[in-house]
This record gives sequence, structure tokens and C-alpha cells, in this order.
Amino acid sequence: MTDEHEGYSVLLGDELVGTLALEDDTPTFRFHEAYCERSDRPILSLSFEDEPPTPDRAFREEDGRLPRFFRNLLPEGHLLEIYERQIETMRHREFELLALIGEDLPGAVRVVRDPLDANPPSAPPALPHRFAFGLAGVQFKLQAARSEARLTIPARGQSGQFIAKFGSPSYPELVQNEWAMLEWARLCGLDVPSFLLRHSSEFDDPSGIITEPFEGRSLLVKRFDRDGTKRIHQEDFAQVLSLHPEQKYDFAVDETVHYTTIGNIVANCGANEHLAEYVERLVFMVLSGNCDAHTKNWAITHNGHGFIGALGALLNAKTGYVRLSPLYDVVSTIAYPADMDRQLALSLSGELRLDAISRDHILELCARIGVAHDDASAIIAEFCKRARATWADLRERTEVPTRVRRAIDDNLGLCAAPNRGL
Ligand SMILES: Nc1ncnc2c1ncn2[C@@H]1O[C@H](COP(=O)(O)OP(=O)(O)OP(=O)(O)O)[C@@H](O)[C@H]1O
Ligand SMILES: [Mg+2]
Repeated sequence: MTDEHEGYSVLLGDELVGTLALEDDTPTFRFHEAYCERSDRPILSLSFEDEPPTPDRAFREEDGRLPRFFRNLLPEGHLLEIYERQIETMRHREFELLALIGEDLPGAVRVVRDPLDANPPSAPPALPHRFAFGLAGVQFKLQAARSEARLTIPARGQSGQFIAKFGSPSYPELVQNEWAMLEWARLCGLDVPSFLLRHSSEFDDPSGIITEPFEGRSLLVKRFDRDGTKRIHQEDFAQVLSLHPEQKYDFAVDETVHYTTIGNIVANCGANEHLAEYVERLVFMVLSGNCDAHTKNWAITHNGHGFIGALGALLNAKTGYVRLSPLYDVVSTIAYPADMDRQLALSLSGELRLDAISRDHILELCARIGVAHDDASAIIAEFCKRARATWADLRERTEVPTRVRRAIDDNLGLCAAPNRGL
């Protein structure tokens, strides 16, 4: 390490995992020695588990950017713009941004200044607004807390149990669309966090963060990575697969990552019921016409301390240490025909076109990830039946936008064609 030591401690909850520091002017992550020696260490990311961790191994990017696991924790879109206004002049923007919001990141990761460090990095700049938290994703979102009738944006250091997602000028009724898809998924029995529709005027917003394009309805979703003051670790599949966040749409082109890739990881670390849920979610994706289920829209949660090594993988599966996270970011993208093509974000058994996906494609994927043929057939058939029955009621609800009702009605008709069998 050079003299120029600007370092932050990386923790999972309260447990020290490693250090993120500038080495030769490059943000570099290294595991802490004591962490490496533990047999019951919490896992930061499956992507780091290809070999036993050692402090000698440096995680850094050739182009000098923040290591990709950490880049995936950063906000995107409008929230990123809000933060970036504060750090314009800094040399390592992503590194500084991470430190700025490091106390409140997705999952249990914390990136904090080490109080015992003799040479601590300079304090992150003060923010003109009171909050400092990170959540990925392009759609404008805030962390939210509910107190009696009001919604608040928790100040720095306070926890928010909800994510509030706001509308998009480019996609009318996006919030209602996502609400309808979450409700449909819930009625189908998928694992969905609790959620509700609210209005942006219900927020206490003294800093005026919720500006004109985002006024109107907002979707409140309970955070599955927070339980009171407890943080539950999660990582998305861009992190699991060691990808950069902006690669999320690349695989519709080069197809090196596909739905079988994700399914295999769920199969290797999770219990059978998670695998069945994964298959059901794929069927739901097709029936609901969601072409945006990219690698950052799938995640796993780590529950407590994992076991390591080959036997550990077995034990983890048995104890449900790693599991598919609850469902999130489900939108019927086919409700926006002018803007969105009908191409899936990842290929499914070699097929990218939504309108070509059939029961056989899903059966082929099931065979590859170890779901027996009869089980797979039953899962698909029962799910399709449930989805049609619940849609028949849901489509009558006033909250369901007309464009979504029409798109799903049409899509369910197409899916039922004999050559598709869904
Ligand atoms: N209920 C939840 N609890 C905890 N974390 C969540 C929850 N929902 C989403 N997240 C995390 O927040 C990130 C952003 O959420 P989401 O995908 O809904 O946003 P988005 O802006 O619509 O994304 P995209 O860029 O894919 O359109 C997700 O990648 C996930 O890591
Ligand atoms: Mg998303």
C-alpha cells in the first residue's frame, strides 16, 4: 500500500470484512486478515468465493474505477444526479460517492471511516439535504419511513423500512403498472414484499427533492434487506456474476449470461422450493410481458452466517442460508409498445423473443437446472392456471391502467396458442 492511504472499512452489519482504499491512486478492496481466518465468516459476495479469501488478493479494476461489486451498490438515474452535484470536483467520484452514502447501502454492506485509523480520509462533503442512502436502479426512488399518516424521508443515520418509487416522464403510469404486477404476483403466490400505492404529496419533503416530473402516484415497497435496525445482506446477480452495472442489457446481444445461468446458481445454493419459485417467476415474466428482468433485477439474500467449502455449500442449501430474494421491479413492459421491443433482457433456452417463448423452452431450462420433467410440467401448468384465474379478477380493479389491461389480455391470448402452451 502506498503512503497515499485513503481507506474505508467495509463491514457487513457490524462485522469487519475488509478495506477499500486508494492504492497507487486506484480504489482497491482487500479482505481483512482476521476475517479470512474465520470459519463462520459472513459472505460478502458469492463472486469472491471462487477461492478462499486472503488479504494478499487485491480486487481492483484495470481502468482504475471502483471495484465492480461496489459499483453495483451505487445509485443510477436521477438519484445519482442529485448526489453527483455534490462531488463534481472530486478525483474519484464513485469512490467518494460510495463513502458519502456508505452507512446506508443495499443489503448489509457498510463502507465507513475507521475510527481507529491514524490517517483517516477527509470527511465526505456535507449534503444540502438531510438524507444519504444508496439504492441502485434508474427509476427515481427514495428511502421512506411511515409514521402515522405521513411519509418521511429518513435523515442520514436513520433507517427507512420502505423504498418509494416515483413515476417516469417516459413511461406513463409506470407506478400503477408495477403496482398491478406486484399485486398479480402476490395473488399467484410468489414471494412479494408488502407494497402499497401512495401519492407523492403525502411525503414530508422540506428539501423539495420530489420535483415536478415525479409528482403523482408513488409505489411504496417494504425493504426485504431491512428488519427494524437489522440489515439483511443481499446481492444482485450483476454482483454474483461479477459484472459491471451497465452490462445489464449486454446479454441480450452476446448471450453469455442467460436465465439458465441464474437458475444454476439458485439450484446450487438454495433449497428446492426456491428453484420452483424461480421457475414460477420465469413463467410470470413471460405471462406478464416483462422484458426488463435483467441481472440487476434478480437478487439473493444471505441469511446469517454461511458455511464455506464444498460441504458448506450443501449445508447452506439445507439451512437456506442463500436464497432467492423476494420479487422486485416487475413491470409489464409490453404496455409500452412504442418504446420497448418485445425482446427479453436475457435469453431463455436460446430464445430472446418474448412472443416465441413456449412451455418447451421453460422445460428445457428446468432440465438444465435439475428440476425433474414431471415436476416442471406440474409447476408450469399450475402456475399458468393460477395466473389466469387471478388476472380475471385483478383486471377489473380501477388501479390497473387500461394500457396494462389490454397488453396482458392480448399477451395471455398469445401465450395460450397450442405451439406455446402457457
Ligand atoms: N423491496 C426491496 N427491498 C430491498 N431492496 C430492494 C427492494 N426492491 C428493490 N431493491 C433493490 O433496489 C434496487 C433498485 O430497485 P428496482 O430494481 O425496483 O429499481 P429500478 O429503478 O426500477 O431498476 P431498473 O434500473 O432495473 O429499472 C434493486 O436492484 C434491488 O437491489
Ligand atoms: Mg431494477
